[in-house]
Amino acid sequence: MRELGLINGRLIEMNDNVITMEDRGHQFGDGVYEVTKVYNGKCFALRPHLDRLYQSLRAIRIPATYTFEELVQFHEALIKESGITEGAIYLQITRGAAPRVHPFPEQVVPCLTMSIRPSGPSNQEMWEKGVKIILIPDERWLRCDIKSLNLLGNVLGKQQAKEAGCYEAVMVRGEHITEGTSSNFFVVKDGIIWTHPATNLILKGITRTIVLERLAKELDLTILEKTFDASFIKGVSEAFLTGTSTEIMPVTSIDGKAVHDGIVGPITRKLQLAYTKLIDEECGRN
Ligand code: PDD
Repeated sequence: MRELGLINGRLIEMNDNVITMEDRGHQFGDGVYEVTKVYNGKCFALRPHLDRLYQSLRAIRIPATYTFEELVQFHEALIKESGITEGAIYLQITRGAAPRVHPFPEQVVPCLTMSIRPSGPSNQEMWEKGVKIILIPDERWLRCDIKSLNLLGNVLGKQQAKEAGCYEAVMVRGEHITEGTSSNFFVVKDGIIWTHPATNLILKGITRTIVLERLAKELDLTILEKTFDASFIKGVSEAFLTGTSTEIMPVTSIDGKAVHDGIVGPITRKLQLAYTKLIDEECGRN
């Protein structure tokens, strides 16, 4: 098993020096990315991840130079050649390399890089017992719906969470709770699940969509895509985060105060079980 990279369709060693100084991803964050989980040697939910990649490319006007089938092949090649069966594949496409000026260069070819790494330490204990989060101001730009490389607000927020001994920082814009620095955020109140609507102010997570469009329906749960403010949180019975690596993560403490009785709630548990079952089915895991 070994970590591997890929640049413009060619497999490389992870630490090969392949990006030129003037790549616009490096200089401007001018690019987009995706992260997909690998379970049992198969990519989970690859189609929706690639659909979102094409949407992000369109949103920042980078031409798509790889077909869906080619990108699937690259994911499969990385899994096969690395021998990694449990891990994550990172993919990014930048506008390409050109002398540094802000407007789009006239002649530039987008640059695709990918890498595969084995999963880190298991989140099992956190999935079972829940995690602590803090609330912080959302200081990001107004196109958080684009999965762009510009993640400074997210990086600073996550570091703040880490320094506070928390798993995640959930952001508040004006009065409204938006999302985590690398996850979407949900609360349960009076049996109804609430989450921020998929506007320009959050990333429409693939895991979020699976919860909304698939798991909640299967489990007959009611979800409301509606904004709520920080004071709303005082009365919630459950809270959880969703994300590709985060999966469905129970939140048992917010800003040092226990959510309800600090024990993972029944709706979160049901969603976790249904999500695991879906991975088992899609990736042939048992
Ligand atoms: N983060 N919101 C933000 C800001 C994110 O960065 C992510 C994912 C999500 C959840 O999206 P999804 O369910 O599609 O993973 C929500 C990725 C995994 C990352 O940056 O590593």
